[in-house]
Amino acid sequence: MKIAISTGGGDAPGLNAVIRAAVLSAIDRGWEVLGIKKGYAGLLGDDEVIPLGRDEVRGIGHLGGTILGASNRGNPFHYPVRQPDGSHIEIDRSDELVENARNLGIDAVISIGGDGSLAIAQRLAQKGMRTVSVPKTIDNDVSGTITTFGFDTAVNTAMEAIDKLHTTAESHDRVIVMEVMGRSAGFIALHSGVAGAAHVILIPEIPYDIQCVCEAVMLRDRRGRHFGIVVAAEGAFPRGGYESVMGASLPGQAKRVGGVAETLARQIHEGTGKECRSLVLGHLQRGGMPTGYDRLLATRFGGAAVKAVEDGKWGHMVALQSPDIVTIPIEQVLGKPKRVDLGHDLVLTARRLGISFGN
Ligand code: F6P
Repeated sequence: MKIAISTGGGDAPGLNAVIRAAVLSAIDRGWEVLGIKKGYAGLLGDDEVIPLGRDEVRGIGHLGGTILGASNRGNPFHYPVRQPDGSHIEIDRSDELVENARNLGIDAVISIGGDGSLAIAQRLAQKGMRTVSVPKTIDNDVSGTITTFGFDTAVNTAMEAIDKLHTTAESHDRVIVMEVMGRSAGFIALHSGVAGAAHVILIPEIPYDIQCVCEAVMLRDRRGRHFGIVVAAEGAFPRGGYESVMGASLPGQAKRVGGVAETLARQIHEGTGKECRSLVLGHLQRGGMPTGYDRLLATRFGGAAVKAVEDGKWGHMVALQSPDIVTIPIEQVLGKPKRVDLGHDLVLTARRLGISFGN
């Protein structure tokens, strides 16, 4: 058996732990393993395909990033190609990819990626490529799995940032608005905001009313707490409005969400007269060493993916359904992104603690 591993989309802490676990589990079965560099670019001649053995995965389980490199603009069905005049067009290179994999003697591909990669794996499976997927996203927005590796690390990074903001915000009687990742899901904002004792948490699942946000800030002020911490998911948007978008930075990339913190800081200043600052935590949330929780989950996913290949679970993804790791058909989760459940005890408890969701 010869399998290949690909890491697609944005990186997430824990990717290397998945690769290591998958490689060692495959070698234990006597299989050969290849690594496709930069998503699928390695199979399309734009990067390489490398052998993965014990030496290549030694000492990588605790490292962030991915030894294979990642790409969020390498969809083989919409592959960006630069034209002589500098513009780009997108072409379908999926047949070429499937053929190149066949020529390399690849029997199956383990695709590690988020919703975009899951959809690509599904389409490649329809073209005859045998795939098993491992869900990956710091945003925790893939359904069918309780959580994904990388999320816990991102929450801890954001929580530590909130801890630091508390002291400086309090010293200066300021309101600080921190923007966290998550795209259209509010999990990172909700979890880090509650863990870090933020005063206002804004998530895309609850469109905010800027007047409510200002009232929450002033209520604290009247109680003698003259500073405030607002955690805003990058996809948070006002009631009746839209999320802030920065556009796509490169051809083939999805639109980039962001900018809401700056707007909020300005509006809170206008509505309360308080001094406000904003920051975007950004890619710090994707970097660094995975937490113990993420290393364990990633390791379990890597081992389970190889078992899924052994069992011929083509078109399936591994998932955490505590306490077990299971496999579920990708089609069960495609097009059904996971969002914060507003009846979840974390949301209800946060409200009881006096945290405002801006509504
Ligand atoms: O999907 C993961 C994610 O981290 C989002 O939360 C964020 O919007 C996006 O990636 C940023 O991606 P990049 O800057 O790599 O395009």
